[in-house]
Amino acid sequence: MTVPLLDLVAQYQTVKDDVLAALMTVIERQGFIMGPEVARLEAEIARLSHAKHGIACASGTDALLLPLKALNLQPWDEVITTPFTFFATAGTVHNAGGTPVFVDIDPATFNISPAAIEAAITPRTRAIIVVHLFGQMAAMETIGPLAARHDLALIEDGAQSIGARRKIGGTWRMSGELGSVGTLSFFPTKNLGAWGDAGLMVTQDDALAERLAKLRLHGGSRQYYHDEVGTNSRMDTLQAAVLLAKLPYLAGWTEARRSNATRYTAAFTGHSDICPPRVDPANDHIFHQYTIQVPRRDELQGHLKAEGIGHAVYYPLALHLQPCFSPLGYKAGSLPVAEAAMRSVLSLPIYPELKQEQQDRVIETVTSFYG
Ligand SMILES: Cc1ncc(COP(=O)(O)O)c(C=O)c1O
Repeated sequence: MTVPLLDLVAQYQTVKDDVLAALMTVIERQGFIMGPEVARLEAEIARLSHAKHGIACASGTDALLLPLKALNLQPWDEVITTPFTFFATAGTVHNAGGTPVFVDIDPATFNISPAAIEAAITPRTRAIIVVHLFGQMAAMETIGPLAARHDLALIEDGAQSIGARRKIGGTWRMSGELGSVGTLSFFPTKNLGAWGDAGLMVTQDDALAERLAKLRLHGGSRQYYHDEVGTNSRMDTLQAAVLLAKLPYLAGWTEARRSNATRYTAAFTGHSDICPPRVDPANDHIFHQYTIQVPRRDELQGHLKAEGIGHAVYYPLALHLQPCFSPLGYKAGSLPVAEAAMRSVLSLPIYPELKQEQQDRVIETVTSFYG
């Protein structure tokens, strides 16, 4: 039995009727740009994120780029972020005109270390980008006040954490609720995936919401009048329709991911070679990824490949070591926790439609490798 890392065709079978009907509504209307579905999705995702505003855009990458552009960064302006994330988190800092500053991560959760952020703040620091990696939130109760104390923008890269929450002072706070801006990606493989590229920003700040809405429409709120130079980063109405049709399924999918995670962790606990993901007790993890740490990772990958078991390494080369960032001067050993993670992590199939016998096969194949 082979097991894919993700099975979007299985998901398609469950949502097909709803999504195709929603798409047909847009198609019959022939209204593809900024149709009513976009505003409805913005309102729904803002509500889910406990945020006042939602601003849809073309991708999760643009959801980061637009708030960074709103900071009017200069090349000497520094944005502190994690090196253990997808490239867009830092690539957008460069593309917005600033300089990324990478700091190390917490070895248990792989999320950015608040102490490392604090140590890296300089008079040139303008913003912090946290990533709620793999679906569990970073330590916002420490990072939020830190950003406020130093008057820094705080961007929550929530591309992997839709619906994740963290208990802070006895209250559940959602991914995207506490930062200046929270971002989302609806890349097809995300927990809520579009049928193409799409992204969204949430914020509590009225003025910023207005600015972001303008920036995604060439910097103007009225057609053909431009207050500043923005870009075309509209979300397609068809993608908004897909996402609205899939949204009612999200809570159930998250529950299925969590119960798959519980089964894996029960099976792996006690194996001295396999370290299951460590969930911070303050977090409600949405398991975008189920990521173990293992010795001889590359050999295990070869074994899984031979056995037809889907798997992936997120991420094999931390961003501070990427060739494009070599002018920043980081060297191997600069950020040892992130570097240890990139050598030992392995993500396993966790998608909601994963069948019990498929999961048993994954467990058996991983555990038997270590004897
Ligand atoms: C952490 C993180 N940030 C940003 C992005 C960029 O999102 P998109 O692929 O929608 O541009 C992704 C998605 O892959 C991501 O995982």
